[in-house]
Amino acid sequence: MKATAKAPANIAFIKYWGKKDEKLRLPLNNSISMNLDRIFSLTTVEFLPEFTEDKVEMIGEKIEDKEACRIKEHLDRIRGLTGIKFKARVVSKNNFPKGTGIASSASGFAALSLAATKAAGLDLTEKDLSILARLGSGSACRSIPDGFVEWIKGHSNETSFAYSLYPPSYWKIADVVAIVTKTEKKVPSSEGHSRAESSPFLKVRIMSMEKKVRAVKKALEGRDFTRLGVIIEEDALSLHTVMMTSRPPILYWLPKTMEIILAVQQWRQEGLESYFTIDAGPTVHLLCLSDNKDKVTQKLKKLGGIEDIIINEPAKGTHLINKHLF
Ligand code: PMV
Repeated sequence: MKATAKAPANIAFIKYWGKKDEKLRLPLNNSISMNLDRIFSLTTVEFLPEFTEDKVEMIGEKIEDKEACRIKEHLDRIRGLTGIKFKARVVSKNNFPKGTGIASSASGFAALSLAATKAAGLDLTEKDLSILARLGSGSACRSIPDGFVEWIKGHSNETSFAYSLYPPSYWKIADVVAIVTKTEKKVPSSEGHSRAESSPFLKVRIMSMEKKVRAVKKALEGRDFTRLGVIIEEDALSLHTVMMTSRPPILYWLPKTMEIILAVQQWRQEGLESYFTIDAGPTVHLLCLSDNKDKVTQKLKKLGGIEDIIINEPAKGTHLINKHLF
């Protein structure tokens, strides 16, 4: 059978950085995210007896050997779950161009997990699908459920998964993504997670995580945007402190990244409420209430020197679609 899935990227309000189990991708802390409606991956998978090897293709992008290997390993996991022996054809497409500083592993592995399990005739629960996606790429597990999501760190393969806290319609929030370069980052997040241990600040960060997770959940519960924004920024700065103080250090920010951070603080003083967060790269995500998304976009454009701006609202999680890529 052939199956196609659509999976959103997600932006973490409370970030995942550092693993307590490398192979199982068990994180050191719980994390909380929002699915993004304008940044997604589409993946079609088919298993057939006549295929002699797994064939992986990305439409409009060259796929590196390392990425293809990771995808084939994931197909092996799925074959292990079903007993299916056939090789597969995988065709995938991101709606954002490569080299924009947006990571594709979360949406990519979420889409692959659903499409491949369906194509293999397996009907997984949302929880089991999230566990499977996590084994491919940690943050992919958060792209499976709808809307606003928490990933419970757990202590074993079965206990580390994501679930939906609220559906996308719960709160009209926007994530205005400012892409500041088209150059790919030099240190992939998998390498960054391993280096986190070498930072003297990792312990301090981890000590504060439970409190921050509780505070974000409270802010979501009360739809308290100011409270949410303050913690989001605090967590992003804590994450980048660990990155910058790892050995060797990881410096993801560019001058434009810093310029946007300072501008956002200035806009707040002027009455436009928006808060920044930054993942493993120089791209800046600006969270604001949806009513303010156009103002934030205009302000960003005025700064100049930004490669691209993508305005996102909360999205549902990974789901099947009828239109196949081959
Ligand atoms: O899932 P990974 O290995 O790409 O790690 C994601 C790391 C961050 O984006 C920096 C934080 C997060 O929780 O999304």
